[in-house]
Amino acid sequence: MSLLEKLDKSNIPQHVAIIMDGNGRWAKKNNKARVFGHKNGVKSVREVTEGAAQAGVKYLTLYAFSTENWNRPKAEVAALMQLLVTTIAKETKTLNKNNIKLQAIGDLKNLPGNCYSELNKAIDSTSTNDGMTLVLALSYSSKWEILDAVNRLLNDVKASDNKEIKVDEAMFNRYLCTANIPDPELLIRTSGEYRISNFLLWQLAYSELYFTPILWPDFTRENLWEAIADYQSRERRFGKTSEQLSS
Ligand code: FPP
Repeated sequence: MSLLEKLDKSNIPQHVAIIMDGNGRWAKKNNKARVFGHKNGVKSVREVTEGAAQAGVKYLTLYAFSTENWNRPKAEVAALMQLLVTTIAKETKTLNKNNIKLQAIGDLKNLPGNCYSELNKAIDSTSTNDGMTLVLALSYSSKWEILDAVNRLLNDVKASDNKEIKVDEAMFNRYLCTANIPDPELLIRTSGEYRISNFLLWQLAYSELYFTPILWPDFTRENLWEAIADYQSRERRFGKTSEQLSS
């Protein structure tokens, strides 16, 4: 029986978020330039997207480029942006064939023009698909997202007649980039680093965290299913006791 068949289909995380890390180290191990690692990382993106859809995951969010990544050497940033443009253009057909909807979160206006327009083209083209949603976090950081939400909320309050607004969780959620996306039940980070790196800080409040030493270009769909199997072995208590959960 394959690992996929062994998964409990009634307990598949609805939303899996991944910090794809280790492309640079993978390239170094292979005596190649960092960009070679990113190119091979795209293979894992394809692998894991298919594997997530096969498992019945509804939302897959990939941290593809952080706000902080803009500080990398110019040539690496340019290569990553070009890789995004070509990958998105090339993969739109496959996304449609597999009924996958593409979404993006982040400060998208900061992306180079061709990247922004290719991304929007793919988002439009896949907008009526209702299988899995693939969310790319691009020029994204959680602190940026939270501050952006607070500022837009303040502007709305200023413009409104009602100045007595009390912000609750549901209202704040509506101002985040992830407004229509459920919180991830599972976060995976590859490459043996134990950090969240400014990713979905609000949304990860109760997520299960899974860290693996595998470098991103080596990460396969089977590795994703292993992470889901590990998730299924955990007891999610949300602050309650074990006894409360079983009664
Ligand atoms: C982290 O590895 C990876 C990135 C910053 C970029 C991820 C991008 C891709 C996998 C390719 C494009 C993605 C899509 C969705 C088309 P790192 O460079 O930080 O590795 P290191 O920590 O070993 O240096």
